[in-house]
Amino acid sequence: MGKDVIIACDFDSKEKTLEFLDKFTGRKPFVKIGMELFYAEGPDIVRQIKARGHKIFLDLKLHDIPNTVKKAMSVLSKLDVDICNLHAAGTIKMMEEALAGLMREDGTRPLLIAVTQLTSTDQQSMERDLLIEKPIDEVVMHYAHNAKIAGLDGVVCSPLEAGKVHEVCGKDFLTVTPGVRFADGDKGDQKRVMTPAEAKKIGSDYIVVGRPITAAADPVAAYMRCIEEFVD
Ligand code: C5P
Repeated sequence: MGKDVIIACDFDSKEKTLEFLDKFTGRKPFVKIGMELFYAEGPDIVRQIKARGHKIFLDLKLHDIPNTVKKAMSVLSKLDVDICNLHAAGTIKMMEEALAGLMREDGTRPLLIAVTQLTSTDQQSMERDLLIEKPIDEVVMHYAHNAKIAGLDGVVCSPLEAGKVHEVCGKDFLTVTPGVRFADGDKGDQKRVMTPAEAKKIGSDYIVVGRPITAAADPVAAYMRCIEEFVD
């Protein structure tokens, strides 16, 4: 695995998702399934997309007591997903237990990555709501380092943080980065963005791209443009 474009399939039904994926006749894109689709359709949507030959990043961002997360991860692991995630804020112990839960009987497991601070959290809300008074960059790097200590495979982060994460945690520690936009595209609600080519240059391992592909007039062409800029 490594250096790929993951399409965020932020649809609210199986029908819309499969209709979208039907457009891709050659290459089978790596797909991200988030809370909306998973809660609407249940685990069966994961099985169906997997059966069509796609790799899956199941973006459910678990955060609970270690034992509960371990058991939940064990269930997700049986769905044969390729990447799962959780909140690093759940502590090193929670991340360790999550890893243990993911391990399958044959010794394989999905990759496990951590969300550090959500990009919707800024310095002000972190200080006011969470009573965390350190600079946000320091908090993000501390959480990434905790994920590394716990044995995780990487983090979800802004492409702007990917270079620093690799400096702190090593170049093999995966950076999975949303917030990607084409140079001539609409930013939407994403504030800190990078193009696929810039994300490649800074060393992101995977880019997560939603609306620039899903809302494009020609989604397959938009996906191929991401592949050309980021992978080829
Ligand atoms: O449509 P867009 O390209 O903005 O989609 C980005 C995807 O990545 C969405 O599914 C969004 O929830 C997710 N994401 C994000 N920023 C984060 C974490 C996840 O945009 N910090």
